[in-house]
Amino acid sequence: MDGAPITIAPSILSADFARLGEQVVEAQLAGADSLHVDVMDGRYVPPITFGPIAVAAIRPLVAIPIDVHLMVVEPERFLKDFVEAGANIVTVHLEATTHLHRTLDAIRELGAKAGVALNPTTPLSAIEEALPFLDLVNLLTVDPGYGGQRFIPACLRKIARLRAMIDESGFSILLEVDGGVNAETARAVVAAGASVLVAGSAIFNAKASVQENLQRLRAAAVR
Ligand code: DX5
Ligand code: ZN
Repeated sequence: MDGAPITIAPSILSADFARLGEQVVEAQLAGADSLHVDVMDGRYVPPITFGPIAVAAIRPLVAIPIDVHLMVVEPERFLKDFVEAGANIVTVHLEATTHLHRTLDAIRELGAKAGVALNPTTPLSAIEEALPFLDLVNLLTVDPGYGGQRFIPACLRKIARLRAMIDESGFSILLEVDGGVNAETARAVVAAGASVLVAGSAIFNAKASVQENLQRLRAAAVR
């Protein structure tokens, strides 16, 4: 287990798009460590969401890092656009890019941190040789494409195995968990070894304010 603090990345997928600017400012004020932007192309996953112009629009409103999760086919086509728009971390799906090393290398060359995302049933062995080229691994704990889905409990073991793999490697790689993270599931996710918690519906919902929701999640996300 690394000693890095647990960080929380609200996913704006569940934000009120009519008030997106206000909502990202609210998230930063509430103590969000970064913002998670779910980019969907209608091909890798069915919905279509944001492009680089949305990232460019929110960039001047917040100082925290913007973590762009590309759920698009051939993400290498868009790396430059997203980094120029202000992305600090760019994460591509392993299943969506043919030459992972080239893609990760290109992200770092552009000056951003390079991440890879794995779907729930994609084996960890697929990224064993990629560890030297990674700054972040995003483990999807739901099938990508939608906010508000249920956390898949079988993924807890995978988080723990990835934690061991990262620690043994000696590389400094963030372990991000994405999907179904809320005040009920966060403790187990953190105990398994996550360092970054992505949360969309748990942060942006009508039940309470962004601040209350974030505080509640942070209180649950203790080692
Ligand atoms: C799913 C996305 C997630 C999503 C998580 O495709 O990658 O980032 O916003 O939403 P919640 O936290 O509601 O499960
Ligand atoms: Zn995501």
